[in-house]
Amino acid sequence: MKVLVTRNLPGTALARLKKFAEVELNIEDRDLSKAEIMKLGFDKDAIITMLSNVIDAEVIAACPKLKIIANYAVGYNNISIEQATKRNIYVTNTPDVLTNSTADLTWALMFAVTRKIVEADKFTRDEKFTGWSPELFLGTDIFGKTLGIVGAGRIGRAVAERALGFKMPVLYTSRKSKSEWEKTINAKHVSMQELLEQADFISLHTALTTETNHLLGAREFEIMKKTAYVINTGRGQLIDEKALAEALENGSIAGAGLDVYEMEPKINDKLRKLSNTVILPHIGSATIETRNAMANMVVNNVIAVLENKHPEQSVNI
Ligand code: GLV
Ligand code: GLV
Repeated sequence: MKVLVTRNLPGTALARLKKFAEVELNIEDRDLSKAEIMKLGFDKDAIITMLSNVIDAEVIAACPKLKIIANYAVGYNNISIEQATKRNIYVTNTPDVLTNSTADLTWALMFAVTRKIVEADKFTRDEKFTGWSPELFLGTDIFGKTLGIVGAGRIGRAVAERALGFKMPVLYTSRKSKSEWEKTINAKHVSMQELLEQADFISLHTALTTETNHLLGAREFEIMKKTAYVINTGRGQLIDEKALAEALENGSIAGAGLDVYEMEPKINDKLRKLSNTVILPHIGSATIETRNAMANMVVNNVIAVLENKHPEQSVNI
C-alpha cells in the first residue's frame, strides 16, 4: 500500500503510518502543486492532503488507485466530494479535535481587535510608552455585548459557550434551531437579518459552500451596527473581502479580526494596511495538542481504509 503525504505533520503519527504502508512524504516547507500531486498520486492508495491542496476532478482522475483522501482539516471545500464519491473514494476530515483551539483563537481575535493588543504591543516595544495615560489605546468592551454566531456547528457552539463568562447575550443562525443546546447558554435562534442588525460581534462558523460564498458583502456590512466587529476563523470566501475593506475604511463597521482570506495566502492590500483589523496567517487550529490530534486522526482514517475498514471521520460514504 502506498500513501502520499503532501506536507510533514507534527508528532509521531506519520511514524505509525510508516509501519502500515510505504509513505511518500513531501519534506519541503511548501505546498505541492496540483501537477505534482497528480504525478505523485498516480500509484497511491491514499493521500493525506492539506486544506491548501486543490483536489478537484482532474486530480482525482489522475489517481486511479485512490481509496481515501484524508484532509488535515475540518473544512473540506478544497476537495471535489462529488468526484470522490463517484469513484467510491472516502474523504475524511478532522472534526472535534480542533473545536476548542479554533474557538479560543476566535476569542483571541475579539480581544486583540477591540483592545488594540497588536498595536499596543508594538508601541511598547518601540519604546514609546512614556507613562500611564487616560486616553492611551482606548478600546471597546467585550463584556455584556451581543455575540452573533453564524453557523451553530461544533466550533460556533464552542465560541458561543465561552460567552457565558462575559455575560454576553448570544444570537445565532443555523438551518435548524438547536433548542436543547440553546437553553444551556440562553442563546437565541434568529434570522440572518436580525443577527446583522443586533450583534456587536459577528463571528462566522459555517462551512464554505456555493450558498455561503460571500455570505457577508456590501449589503450585509450596511445592515450591521457602525460599532460592530466581524470575526472570521472559518473560510475566507465567506466574506467579500473587497467589500469588507471598504466597510472598514469608510467606518460602516468598527473592525475585523481575520484568520482566513478570500484569496489565501494573498490578502487584500487595503485590508493589510487598515489599523482597525487584526490579521493572522490561518492558525485557528495551530496548537501542539490539536495539530498532533489532527495528525493521529488522519493517520487512523488512512490505516482503517488500508485495512478495508470504514474510516471513522468519513464525510461522504
Ligand atoms: C482549518 O481551517 C480547518 O478547516 O481545519
Ligand atoms: C466543525 O467542527 C464545526 O462543526 O463547526
